[in-house]
This record gives sequence, structure tokens and C-alpha cells, in this order.
Amino acid sequence: MFQIRLQTPADAIAVETLNDLGFGSNRHGRTVWRFRQGPVADGLALVAAGLEADTPLATLRFWPVTIGGIAPALLLGPLAVCPTRRGQGMGRALVGHGLSKARDLGWTLCLVSGDPRYYQPYGFSSADPHGITLPGPIEAGRFQVVELTPGALAALDGLADRTLQPWRWVRADSTSALSAA
Ligand SMILES: CC(C)(COP(=O)(O)OP(=O)(O)OC[C@H]1O[C@@H](n2cnc3c(N)ncnc32)[C@H](O)[C@@H]1OP(=O)(O)O)[C@@H](O)C(=O)NCCC(=O)NCCS
Repeated sequence: MFQIRLQTPADAIAVETLNDLGFGSNRHGRTVWRFRQGPVADGLALVAAGLEADTPLATLRFWPVTIGGIAPALLLGPLAVCPTRRGQGMGRALVGHGLSKARDLGWTLCLVSGDPRYYQPYGFSSADPHGITLPGPIEAGRFQVVELTPGALAALDGLADRTLQPWRWVRADSTSALSAA
């Protein structure tokens, strides 16, 4: 049994340890990690914790990014479950809860770099046909996108540059630029 709750400052070391165990301590060199250097998206740093000990057993965070410096989107991950607690539904519960919360918070698009078999059940599909690209090396088919609001991908029509960019590059006039695109 576990509960999903917001990550607190006291969880920081446990969360780092879970990510070390899940991805190795050299993970920060991978393409997708370059987008996780700024602050995490508000309300979207989640842990699954034991009901009694309340220690994080799994972690999922989302980062704000932009598509082409204009369209706001979320980047899902890292998602890591304690090796001794895998296969108990914690990963799936965190992803389902996180996406639902992201939708409630008004996010319209979410991207992920991960195994397509894991993310397809949530509606993710390859970002390639939508022209959304991750700058840097990534295995074919792993970069995926899901609409949190119907029509969010169509709203990118006219946006020529669909390269993923860190959130800090979002343009001040993003809303008007997107609707004009
Ligand atoms: C991948 C990971 C998060 C799964 O968490 P989990 O709590 O064990 O997963 P759940 O119990 O919720 O779900 C189990 C299901 O996911 C599938 N699954 C587990 N790992 C998978 C993987 N790497 N790729 C595809 N499917 C996977 C299982 O086969 C199982 O499928 P089923 O529901 O059809 O039986 C966990 O193994 C982990 O932390 N791995 C190391 C870090 C990592 O790879 N993170 C994901 C990056 S995309």
C-alpha cells in the first residue's frame, strides 16, 4: 500500500537516491536531462510513499518546457521506482495521477522520453509526425507526446520551429504569438 503526495524538501535526498538507482549517477549527461535544470513545474513534484513510514518509494516530476520557444508544454520525468518495489503499480499510479493533475492545472501538452510500451496506455505517441524534436541524440521512437486538452497539437499549426527548448526561453508574447501562428 502507498499514497501519492507532493514532494517536500525533506524528500530531496531520497528522491536523488531513487533516480541514481533508476538511471545511474551519470544520467545528467543525457539529452533529456538538460531540460530539467530549472525549477520543477508547480504542483508536479510527486512521490509515492509508504502509508506508515512515509518514505518516498517512487518519484515523478514534470518540468515546464517550450516548443519552439513559444508553446508551453510539460516534460514528464524522471520516473523512478525503488528497485525492490517495482511491479506493484506505483509507476503507473504516479503517471496517471500526474497527468490528471497536469490537466487540472491547465497544461495542454505533455512530452516524454521513454519506452513507448510503458506510455502508450496514457495516449502518448511518437512526437516525430508532429515535427516536435528533442535537440540531441535520442533513440528512435522514444520521444513522445500526448494532448492533455483536445486540439492542443492542432494549435501548433503554423509553428515552424518545433524544437524543444528550456522554459526560460519562453517569449513574453507567447500567447499572442501562438494564436497568431
Ligand atoms: C519503469 C518503472 C518506472 C516502472 O515502474 P513500476 O512501478 O515497476 O511499474 P508498474 O508496476 O506501475 O507497471 C508495471 C507494468 O509496466 C511494465 N514495465 C515496467 N518497466 C517497463 C519498461 N522499462 N518498459 C516498458 N514496460 C515496462 C511492466 O511490464 C508492467 O506491465 P503490465 O502492467 O502490462 O503488467 C521502474 O521499473 C523503474 O523505476 N525503472 C528504472 C527507471 C526507468 O526506467 N524509468 C522510466 C523511464 S521511461
